[in-house]
Amino acid sequence: MLAALALALTLDSGFAVIPRPAHLTPKAGTFTLTGATVITTDPASRALGAMLTDYLFPATGFRLAVRSSAPAGVPAISIRLDTTLGTLGEEGYRLDVSRARVTIRAYRPAGAFYALQTLRQLLPPEIFRQAPVTGVAWVVPAVAIEDAPRFAWRGMHLDAARHFMPKEFVKKLIDLAALHKLNRFHWHLTDDQGWRIEIKQYPRLTQVGAWRRQTLVGRQDHDSTTWRFDGQPHGGFYTQDDIREIVAYARARFVTIVPEIEMPGHSQAAIAAYPELGNTGDTVPVWTRWGVDENILNPSDATIQFEQNVLSEVMGLFPGRWIHVGGDEAPKTQWKASPLAQGRIRDLGLKDEDELQSWFTRRMDEFLTAHGRTLVGWDEILQGGLAPNAVVMSWRGIDGGIIAARAGHDVVMAPGSHTYFDHYQSADTGNEPLAIGGFLPLDTVYAYDPVPAALAADEARHVLGAQGQVWTEYIPDPKRVEYMAFPRACALAEVLWTPVERKDYPDFRRRLAAHLARLAVLDVNYRPLGS
Ligand code: ACM
Repeated sequence: MLAALALALTLDSGFAVIPRPAHLTPKAGTFTLTGATVITTDPASRALGAMLTDYLFPATGFRLAVRSSAPAGVPAISIRLDTTLGTLGEEGYRLDVSRARVTIRAYRPAGAFYALQTLRQLLPPEIFRQAPVTGVAWVVPAVAIEDAPRFAWRGMHLDAARHFMPKEFVKKLIDLAALHKLNRFHWHLTDDQGWRIEIKQYPRLTQVGAWRRQTLVGRQDHDSTTWRFDGQPHGGFYTQDDIREIVAYARARFVTIVPEIEMPGHSQAAIAAYPELGNTGDTVPVWTRWGVDENILNPSDATIQFEQNVLSEVMGLFPGRWIHVGGDEAPKTQWKASPLAQGRIRDLGLKDEDELQSWFTRRMDEFLTAHGRTLVGWDEILQGGLAPNAVVMSWRGIDGGIIAARAGHDVVMAPGSHTYFDHYQSADTGNEPLAIGGFLPLDTVYAYDPVPAALAADEARHVLGAQGQVWTEYIPDPKRVEYMAFPRACALAEVLWTPVERKDYPDFRRRLAAHLARLAVLDVNYRPLGS
């Protein structure tokens, strides 16, 4: 019995699935995929059957037929929804592999989709090749898996504002997120250094705001006389057709995109395009350096209307429930000096500029709520009073998340200490590409528990989950995004999916060694394991 248990545990880690499934029981034997294998589905799972055919075809050369049933004796991969599996939730699944067949059952299509991601990881890593591979036996070890996620919000963030990231790379990142069973893509689309989303009512946002003249070279020293600039224009934006394409791509992979339109801070690119949005009336350029910018939006009715008009187009493009309106790092210097802002504070009977920002955010909250959407903001939106329906993203540590959860608001944990993938992943920074700073090694990500210990159970249910941040001030291109995000995103995926009692860092490292072979085939420029 003990020997059998030990064997099972050893074999379990031999199944190099990331994130680790909630329940996994090895069985004897293997299933071998051949050109004679048939995929069978119910009508609701037909599209997933076709997706599995597409996953398996390039490397194997087998274009497996998708049918409603297969004759007895024909090796089959069966995918069906099962109304009795409600306890596994919207995203849970059962995957049973035996010598004769592979059986996938789920309550909802998302669960069956995650079963497919597990199945891909049970095959040899060459399955991810996009051209036929010879000499590989397409063998799946027999196993019984029952699996469901720990958290509903399993996110990946990308800052496409500081450095524009091409559409094809955004799709690649969404694909990689889905492979790791992540289901939210937080797309940071606007900032001081660039506006990246076409807005039909305000063409100058991209005509002007999507381009900066040049970019600071290297680290931004406190002494501005040392700054050097590259003299190279940088920019780009996503057309509304691009966005629709990416939204459809994400939706097919059960990823909900959370678009972020920053306000009232991190808005210099918008003010460069439309100076009347600012406080000073000055014409400002799209920003060419980094940091916290004093050029924030003014709190006029016209500016509120402008941002709501932008959000109308954003809602038309992004069908997901959540719309992020930023809210972080909005210095109040200009509002303190502005007759308009001070008049507003007086007329509304507000205490100070923080309450004025809260008032601004509430206007967006009312607007989004009236349209059936939910506002998300960085934890600064707590200052001056939280808008009634807001979800708080806790980035300056975990306290914002604790306060918001106690006040009955949903929260997404994004603390710099455990989820900022722009931070260094080695203490030996001299051998790493230049980064913004910080130190976030793989084991620290893995050790993260998104539920703050201070929360009681009824408060903790407001913690929707967490997400990994990729801010791109010092990340100029997709290859560097991959280097910074992987394998830390693999660790975070396990934090967010796997039951806490199944987390085991040495076991994760063993599985990761095999998993990296998959990422290599997928041309992911992950940071090698080691120091
Ligand atoms: C942030 O890192 N400013 C949210």
